[in-house]
Amino acid sequence: MTRLQYGTPAKIFHWVIVALLAVQYPIGWLMPDIHRGMSPGAGMTFHLSIGLTILLLTALRFVWRLTHPVAPESSLPPWQRLSSEAVHWLLYALVLATTISGWLFASFRGWSVSYFYLVPLPMLASDNAAAGKAIDGLHQAMEWALLITICIHVAAALAHVFIYRDRVMQRMLPG
Ligand code: HEM
Ligand code: HEM
Repeated sequence: MTRLQYGTPAKIFHWVIVALLAVQYPIGWLMPDIHRGMSPGAGMTFHLSIGLTILLLTALRFVWRLTHPVAPESSLPPWQRLSSEAVHWLLYALVLATTISGWLFASFRGWSVSYFYLVPLPMLASDNAAAGKAIDGLHQAMEWALLITICIHVAAALAHVFIYRDRVMQRMLPG
């Protein structure tokens, strides 16, 4: 059954992932650059661990979204309904592409890293310099594409608050 409003689980998924991304970007930019033969330090361990948490939550959220569809706000003109849906699906796809490309990048370097220093992190592939070279840059391209799409999404949310003055922002807020 298609609902008219986002439920509490959808809202919790949304805002927890926003908070994790707000930490993940600064860690990514501030952690030391990668050099040949280096092993990952604390910054990288946290980047990988938070990144995998984002991947896991996004996968769960995606399944939740497919099993609990929500109709677009009915007062919106068709072009806004279509474009907002398209941006939402693109956000899901880009979060998945960013996290999986990062995980592959780390795997091809042959690192052994732990999840928040608790349990060993499974790697997707074994040490492979040629594949690492091939995927080099993909993670960065994806993280920028994601950031640009997030900016478009947030700008649209703000436009609904300040220009259209409708209920779209309320749909994702508590209550
Ligand atoms: C949506 C989640 C993620 C975001 C937003 C993100 C963002 C970033 C950013 C901003 C950088 C710095 C790149 C630069 O210097 O411009 C970076 C680097 C890196 N990230 Fe992520 N990351 C995410 C998930 C992951 C995951 C899941 C992994 C691995 C399990 C990972 C592994 C890496 C590695 C190995 C680097 C260093 C290599 C490079 O500079 O490309 N990332 N990430
Ligand atoms: C401060 C930043 C943000 C604000 C104000 C915001 C606001 C909103 C609002 C109001 C909606 C509901 C739109 C509607 O009813 O059609 C929404 C949905 C959504 N947002 Fe955000 N958002 C923010 C950040 C993000 C980020 C960083 C992501 C990245 C993953 C994201 C991903 C999504 C997705 C995928 C949906 C669609 C939910 C679904 O239908 O499954 N948002 N957001």
